[in-house]
Amino acid sequence: MKLQKKKILVTGCAGFIGSHMTDRLLALGSSVLGVDNFSTGKRRFLQSAISSDRFRLIGGNLLEMDLAPMFGEVDVVCHFAANPDVRVGASDTKIHFEQNLEVTYRLLEACRKSGIKDIVFPSTSTVYGEPDTMPTPETLGPLIPISLYGASKLGCEALISGYCHTFDMNSVIYRFANVVGSRSTHNVLHDFVRKLKQNPGELEILGAEPGTIKSYVHIKDCLDAMVTGAENANERVEILNIGSKDRITVKEIADIVVREMGLKEVKYRWTGGVDGGRGWTGDVRQMLLSIEKLERLGWTPRYNSSEAITAAVREILAEGLQ
Ligand SMILES: NC(=O)c1ccc[n+]([C@@H]2O[C@H](COP(=O)([O-])OP(=O)(O)OC[C@H]3O[C@@H](n4cnc5c(N)ncnc54)[C@H](O)[C@@H]3O)[C@@H](O)[C@H]2O)c1
Repeated sequence: MKLQKKKILVTGCAGFIGSHMTDRLLALGSSVLGVDNFSTGKRRFLQSAISSDRFRLIGGNLLEMDLAPMFGEVDVVCHFAANPDVRVGASDTKIHFEQNLEVTYRLLEACRKSGIKDIVFPSTSTVYGEPDTMPTPETLGPLIPISLYGASKLGCEALISGYCHTFDMNSVIYRFANVVGSRSTHNVLHDFVRKLKQNPGELEILGAEPGTIKSYVHIKDCLDAMVTGAENANERVEILNIGSKDRITVKEIADIVVREMGLKEVKYRWTGGVDGGRGWTGDVRQMLLSIEKLERLGWTPRYNSSEAITAAVREILAEGLQ
């Protein structure tokens, strides 16, 4: 699937990953029609995009707006809009169903009706649930997510696959590890930086020491992976893991944040978490993705997990908290 010199609809264009993808697509010579409701997205993330005459922004809620006019103008859909908050699913059971599954269904219907054939979709490592096999390959099954967020994204993958096979469409589905870097607004790094700015002597950490152990990928590596994956996709529905080759604990992340903030003798206060040490209900304890498939297509990450976290903390501190 070509992403160069195309007309591309980017949903969630003002979000963390969507805004970076918008910049990358513009750099590849494509035109971008961006849509966002600014529920978590920020206008300032589009500062660079807005200066391009190949970028146009539409404000609107994908759950309700008429999609047909936008779909007449594009030939690829990159669907980044979603509610990505795993935690919220334990208290609001409707949000992931509506914002992730229903919105994806609406977009697929719009693709079908307007004859758009190419879809790019960011899924997540949480679709694997808590697999026995690690590093976890794309071929693993059955997939048993343990959060409503993971379930909704797996449902989206299934819908996309069904539409592609029924209506002669193509898709690239990326299963991301935890993506970190500039413009991120909602992850463990933000939680730690925010808390340490308020109280530099003590850090509350959700979970039981040393916390979950997961893989983190920097946004720069993630963008390169997405472009390489799309341009070298071979299957009608190409599923690709994107992560780094190692994983680190929450304790190691806390140590990096403390070091990068120049703090000393910070006391860690572990909450104990839920269900034997998870940070919250639906939080997987371990995650490491096999990235061999994407490596065979020509991509390899430049950062390991610890380097990705270090770079991301520096970027977050330089930006100020978003
Ligand atoms: N950040 C990660 O580590 C990670 C990991 C796995 C998968 N993902 C997936 O990547 C995508 C982007 O995630 P992100 O971290 O950039 O999140 P984000 O919250 O920063 O971006 C989502 C964007 O979508 C917009 N949006 C949400 N609902 C909308 C609606 N109904 N109508 C219009 N706009 C809407 C938001 O305002 C925001 O700009 C999501 O699909 C997420 O599930 C992210």
